[in-house]
Amino acid sequence: MPLPAPRRLLLALCWLPVTLLADDSLTAERVQELETLLYQDCGSCHGMTLRGGLGPALPTSRMNAYSQDGLAALILHGIPGTAMPGWKGLLTEEEARWLADHLQNDNPLDE
Ligand code: HEC
Repeated sequence: MPLPAPRRLLLALCWLPVTLLADDSLTAERVQELETLLYQDCGSCHGMTLRGGLGPALPTSRMNAYSQDGLAALILHGIPGTAMPGWKGLLTEEEARWLADHLQNDNPLDE
């Protein structure tokens, strides 16, 4: 027997936060680790503040030349024939996408 409509609505509302959380499955702890990785590991070549070093600076203007998918792929696979390594072994696709999003929309160079 189907639930009466108000109950179904209530049930749907209860599931909403679960669905939202499932969509964004990186934990706060992992996000913290990714930020540390960005400054320390990426920073070892791109500069601790991403202003450039062995690797070029990574300002928003430059990062937005890539699509977010393209930037995530670049991070995962590196740039063959250059010192830019691929991070596939260390990062999941979702994590690479988080870094790409961070570089495009929350870039430390803009602060
Ligand atoms: C071992 C040094 C090294 C490390 C570590 C490194 N990179 Fe790079 N990266 C480079 C070099 C060198 C280039 C420029 C390659 C070229 O000549 O095109 C580059 C290029 C890039 C580019 C393209 C820049 C542009 O202007 O198009 C992005 C984006 C990038 N790196 C992001 C990252 C991120 C994110 C990390 C950490 C997950 C990282 N890099 C770690 C050396 C490094």
